[in-house]
Formats: sequence, C-alpha cells, structure tokens
Amino acid sequence: MHKVIFDTDPGVDDAMALLFLHRHPEVELLGVTTVFGNASIENTTRNALFLREAFGIDAPVARGAGTPYDPARIPHAYPVMVHGENGLGDIPIPDTPPSRPLDHEDAAQFIIDTVHAHPGEVSVVAVGRMTNLANALRRDPAIAGLVKQVVIMGGSFHVPGNVSPAAEANIHGDPEAADAVTTAPWKLTVIGLDVTGQTVMTRAELAALSDAGGSDLALLDALSQDYIRFYGHLLEDGMLVHDTCACVALVRPDLFQTVQGAVRVVCGGIADGQTILKPAGRRFPPGEWDGLPEQTVAVGVAASAVMALITETL
Ligand code: BDR
Ligand code: CA
Repeated sequence: MHKVIFDTDPGVDDAMALLFLHRHPEVELLGVTTVFGNASIENTTRNALFLREAFGIDAPVARGAGTPYDPARIPHAYPVMVHGENGLGDIPIPDTPPSRPLDHEDAAQFIIDTVHAHPGEVSVVAVGRMTNLANALRRDPAIAGLVKQVVIMGGSFHVPGNVSPAAEANIHGDPEAADAVTTAPWKLTVIGLDVTGQTVMTRAELAALSDAGGSDLALLDALSQDYIRFYGHLLEDGMLVHDTCACVALVRPDLFQTVQGAVRVVCGGIADGQTILKPAGRRFPPGEWDGLPEQTVAVGVAASAVMALITETL
C-alpha cells in the first residue's frame, strides 16, 4: 500500500489524478495539499474541497503556497486559456461552502508532520509548482531522509517545454522551488513532458467513461471539455493526462523507461525553468554539478498500458 500526500493545483488534469489516486486499490491518500499554479491558491484550494466532496474522498486538505518560494520572483499570470478562470474548466462551482471545511492552513507543515508521523513510508506525488515541497524542505531538511519517495510531474528533457521552448509549466511557475526539490537528497522520480506528452485520453474515451460511470466521471467529463478544446492545437480530439501519468509512475514504475542523473533547474533568463539532466557516469570538469544526488528521470513510457490502467482504475 502506498501512503500518499497529493500536492496539487486543481486544475483539470489534477482532478483526474485525484480521482485516480482515490480509486486505486494500492493507494492510501493521507492528505491533499494545494498550491497556486493553474489558478490562484484561493481557487485551487476551493477546487480541492469541491472535488473531495464530489468524489467522496475522506482525506484532509491543507492549503499551501500562494506565491513562489523566492519572494523576489514575480509570479506569472494564471493559465486561464488552459484551465479556465476558475481552474476547473469554468464549470459552475457552488458558492455554498463544502460540508467539510479546510483541515489545515499550512501545507508545508502538514507535509512535515505527516512525514514524521510515518517515517520511511510516505510518498509525495507533486503535480503543481514545487513550492510546498521546497518550503517544507527549507523549514525541516530532515524530511528528505524520512520520506519514502517523491514523484513529480514537471520538466522536459528531450522535448520542448509547453510554456516556452525550454520550460514546462510546473517548473516554470517556480524554478527556484523546483531546483530545491530536484537537488534534495531524497528518492525523486521526475515525470516530465517526455512521457506525459504521450499519454492522451481522447474525448470519446472520456465520454465512454462518463457514460459507464457515476456522477464523479460525469463531472470529470464536464470539467475537461475546455481543456480538450485547448489541446486542439496539438492533438486531434483529446487531452494530455500529465498529472495522472505521474500517479501511474508511483504504482507502476515498470511502465516507464528511466535514466539516473543529477537534475538542475535554470533560474532566470531565456531558459527560465528549463530542467537539465547530467546523466549518471558522465564526467565534467569540477563545478556546480558535483556531489548532487542522482534522481530518476522518465524518458520513455508504455503509453497504451498507462492509459489502460487509468481507464480501468477510473
Ligand atoms: C502541468 O501544468 C498544469 O497545467 C497541469 O496541471 C500539469 O500539472 C503540465 O505542464
Ligand atoms: Ca497540475
């Protein structure tokens, strides 16, 4: 059983990932931590509470960072053309507060406390900006030795980014946080666009799930419609399920081809937010890359097997 903290910025593909984790028989959801990104922290937290209720999830929700790790960094505009103004494809979300209120006001502290409560057992799956994880590390570096593993959706290594030729959105939104996370001494798996760019759910497949399932799948179908329209520039009639792909990497790492190496993030300039891999065993003159932990970076994926698992689990 995987004890999981899900760190997320819901977010259309985040919503599917949350339902996947909730439904997967080998996942015990210890908590959901929110972060700014696809929308403001107010909206992503409201969305997490809304989805928790709609999906019938019984796990605490903790509100996280609303601004980047480095106070000097100016936040980017929210990607309303991707996730809508409200972060969930602009489906109507009731104004009435959810029946269960927010459980914690401080996601970084929630991560620290939960990791200490279950030493060596907690997996963190982070699918938004890495700000909460970086804040938690800064406050308590000991958590790096106490988590079981961290899986992140972010970055691009051998393919272009999706918010610039160099950068993927989750990393670009807070590069300093991402660099703190990729260089920390913990077991980290990086699931970037190299693999999530291959995991497509078509509109018809989502509609079929909705027809066969309950109100949660109908909700997922409804909130994904604008996102599918957005992906019209890249895909025929479907969407990339970035965040669910990262969740699959937790439960079925064998479906991914990976390489080991140190990962750093470019902070500033034309390549702001670019992720760079120094493959294990490659030697360079002494410098900034010395002594960094070697992480696991996904470079290939059995995409149809991943999609089959997602469909079956949902
Ligand atoms: C990532 O950015 C967000 O738009 C998605 O939720 C995903 O986490 C993809 O680049
Ligand atoms: Ca996300």
